[in-house]
Amino acid sequence: MKIAIVGATGLVGQVMLKVLAEFDLPISTLVLAASPRSVGNIIHWQGTDYTVCSVEDAIASKPDIAIFSAGSSTSKKYAKAFTAIGSFVIDNSSCWRMDPTVPLVVPEVNGSVLSKDELLIANPNCSTMQMMLPLKPLHDTYGIKRLVISTYQSFTGTGSVAVRQYETEKEGHQVSENDRAYPHPIFANCLPHCGDFEENAYTTEEIKLVNETRKILNAPEIQITATAVRVPVFGGHSESVNIEFENDFRITEVLALLDAFPGVQIMDDIENNHYPTPLQAHDKNDVFVGRIRRDHSIKKGLNMWIVSDNLRKGAATNTVQIAKYLLDNKLLKH
Ligand code: A2P
Repeated sequence: MKIAIVGATGLVGQVMLKVLAEFDLPISTLVLAASPRSVGNIIHWQGTDYTVCSVEDAIASKPDIAIFSAGSSTSKKYAKAFTAIGSFVIDNSSCWRMDPTVPLVVPEVNGSVLSKDELLIANPNCSTMQMMLPLKPLHDTYGIKRLVISTYQSFTGTGSVAVRQYETEKEGHQVSENDRAYPHPIFANCLPHCGDFEENAYTTEEIKLVNETRKILNAPEIQITATAVRVPVFGGHSESVNIEFENDFRITEVLALLDAFPGVQIMDDIENNHYPTPLQAHDKNDVFVGRIRRDHSIKKGLNMWIVSDNLRKGAATNTVQIAKYLLDNKLLKH
């Protein structure tokens, strides 16, 4: 399997290399591409030195799969040049996610939508992604009517510029406007502002939570409202999710459904202060769920707390799982 990574030098790109090594896929050739400023740099992976190349060179290498994690504009510019030569593209950006012809995939939830014919595949937004695993079995069993979501998202989700802003502020220095990822300090602060504000007063990240959830669960009828908050956490997104179901449930049954779902780990023992946190979820591929309790303010309501490493399941791990699904289900051309 010949794999190209576009954005190999970025935060997600680096985690991708780690996850690719862990999954031990049969990679015959690895092509690492980034922006012109990184071309010629060396990346060490699995005992070999790889020279970073341009995206044009990555296209010329005709990979089976090109994994993109270089922002929307790079995906928009180059993704279709790969599909035109028969490569699958797994894109981490938001560029194609809501295109009705592009599958938006969490393999454990809707991997069956993948086919030989749709070469362009979108990886969901990190905060949507981690919610999908626990929500899928609950939606299938009880029917989700409404979701109220509040996120506490790590600044690493914004990429290297945000990490540099946090580090600089932590050292007590101001960051100039041109070098900042956010309009306010992120160190020792919380910003109710993930992405950009849209005309309807919601942020792009909040709108992604609504639209991508409906697309992945194939449930346009679910009512969803969200507030997305950027927090000074070094890796790991947390979410408070309030669910109203169509049908009633028993907590024991909810626990059994979550426990049986692949990639979900329950951490819910309040007597022993046992619940998920971003520090504990760091560098793990699973999604952790705790504080599972009935919402007594409505008839069929449930509250839970969902935490995952945003650079892993929220980005790199899901991408590599899609690549593995294509391989395991013989969807690759050769
Ligand atoms: P580079 O390191 O050369 O800037 P992050 O999300 O951590 O900021 O990383 C973004 C990734 O996308 C980096 O690997 C970056 O490369 C890459 N990238 C940014 N712009 C382009 C571009 N125009 N073409 C190819 N790769 C790009």
